[in-house]
Amino acid sequence: MTRELLDIARTIAREAGDLAARHRAAGVEVAASKSSIVDIVTEADREAEALIRGRLAELRPNDGFFGEESGAETGSSGLTWLVDPIDGTVNFLYGIPHYAVSIAVVEGDPDPLTWRGLAGAVVNPPAGEVFTAIAGEGAWLGDARLRVAEPVELPQALVNTGFAYGAELRAEQGAVVAGLLPKVRDIRRLGTASLDLCAVAAARTNAYFERNLSPWDHAAGAIIASEAGATVKGWADAAAGRDFILAAHPVVAAALEELLAELHA
Ligand code: IPD
Repeated sequence: MTRELLDIARTIAREAGDLAARHRAAGVEVAASKSSIVDIVTEADREAEALIRGRLAELRPNDGFFGEESGAETGSSGLTWLVDPIDGTVNFLYGIPHYAVSIAVVEGDPDPLTWRGLAGAVVNPPAGEVFTAIAGEGAWLGDARLRVAEPVELPQALVNTGFAYGAELRAEQGAVVAGLLPKVRDIRRLGTASLDLCAVAAARTNAYFERNLSPWDHAAGAIIASEAGATVKGWADAAAGRDFILAAHPVVAAALEELLAELHA
């Protein structure tokens, strides 16, 4: 059953990724700003979400839907699809070949504190990479099984993060980065939360953390990172969610969380 759900997620994410890539080749413009002038949407985001929503309505008419561009609809099956049609929209706008279609199917309320991720697919069209996971069965890049990097001390850790769209929170995030940078191998800001989580899963970075994400940004990537052996958590005892998400090998996650607690103080 879950494998069928993953097949649906993967197939539709690939199709939406092809649509996004065609838009990118034809040229992309900002269609509108959302929460702030730096938070943007393009026509491709809207079309890709409409495509995904339409396909899911045909194939899974009783499931709920929660998408970045078109909002939520409750279903009767207890399952909900969390969809970011183009994660990394700013990269997409500028032609930086690092953006993704992210689709997760979860059980329960699509609230980070109560849902249980069942399966997820994250497709990076420019790289031709397809990351997938099924809860309890594993995570893959194409056919290759994923495993997080072995633990390292923080001075040997490549840490990835992202920034919110609001100016006030960005100022706080800048201060944390200033304190963190001298204590780790380096910091990356790659611009696509779902792929940031997949990077931890694929041992391309040692850790990822971010504040203020939305469910569609992290739902699929969180299943993938967790199935690759990462701890995926929120602040202190909280589940990963809007306030905070941290993903890393359990040993690295504990050390990084301690350091971040000091930097926030
Ligand atoms: C954004 C990206 C970015 C992260 C932002 C997200 P969007 O998603 O994932 O890396 O730092 O917090 O909102 O707006 O491109 O779908």
